Amino acid sequence: MPILNLTEAAVKGKVSEGTVLINAVPSIRSGKKNDFMVGNFLSQDAQFEFRVWEEEIYSTIQAHGSGIYDVEVIGSEYNGFYFTVRRVEVSRNENISKHDFLPKIPADQIKNNWRNAMAKLRDLGTTEACWQLIQTVLNAPELEGRFTIEGAAIYYHDNKIGGLVNHTTKTLNILAAILENNPELQECADLLAFAVTVHDIGKVFEYDDLAPAKYWYANHRVRGIEFIALFKDAIIDLYDETFYRQVQSVISGHHGDFGDRPTSIAAAIVHYIDTLESQTTGLLQSMLQTKSDQIRFGDWGFLEPLPIDRFKSIPEDSPEALEAYFTEK
Ligand SMILES: [Fe+2]
Ligand SMILES: [Fe+2]
Repeated sequence: MPILNLTEAAVKGKVSEGTVLINAVPSIRSGKKNDFMVGNFLSQDAQFEFRVWEEEIYSTIQAHGSGIYDVEVIGSEYNGFYFTVRRVEVSRNENISKHDFLPKIPADQIKNNWRNAMAKLRDLGTTEACWQLIQTVLNAPELEGRFTIEGAAIYYHDNKIGGLVNHTTKTLNILAAILENNPELQECADLLAFAVTVHDIGKVFEYDDLAPAKYWYANHRVRGIEFIALFKDAIIDLYDETFYRQVQSVISGHHGDFGDRPTSIAAAIVHYIDTLESQTTGLLQSMLQTKSDQIRFGDWGFLEPLPIDRFKSIPEDSPEALEAYFTEK
């Protein structure tokens, strides 16, 4: 059975079959009549929610956990799009592996964006010594090179291979804008750049190829603080204990009200940077992926999508422009 093209299958009422990846163990929820299963299919270009209403169908997934399955689905819609699973079997195709499904951010794109962010921050007060320290930390053998591989999340934002470094780069870009707007912060540029770089570093240990890792429950803030302790002496030698403690406060407080409350201005600033970046990316991802006219977003209900393509400029000499010239009044 071929890999199911989720994007093509995601039409209300359309029945499709194919092979899918369930990367994280789905949850069971209580419905009005019976319990049902809610999970996600993950593919190179999209992630879609699925539901299984009958226990005799979802018991197969319960028994085998995350993995590759052959399914028959029908596109459904109620408060947003999802697939209803009508049939499921464990895939026996040995030529398909998990990596055939995982979405990836191209390595060149990651490198270029990282270099650009670094160049901006160099002009805004960060020192060479800071970037060397960052390099040493990111190359630590304990990370096994996975800072550039792991995703930033399992659901919602930058849940792709390379997503963690992508999210981190975008938070560094936002930091650059903040340093530019508030020159008085520039003397703390090293502290803020270092703290932003490592704020989510513990995700290397919390996730494993976009799924929860074995010890996921000791979350990435805890694991980040534990990891950074390996560099305590090096950080204190280069700066001082205040710098080190402030970095710890950023890692522990960067989730704002959804974790330990921020206890320093640095933690509060990084929390806002992190929220702006992750929420913007999450919203755009759902907007580009969804086929319905509106996006459901947390407590705000439905949001109207941006009119993407409507205001795109068309080069004057393109075939589209020529056609428009003859067809438009
Ligand atoms: Fe985080
Ligand atoms: Fe983050």
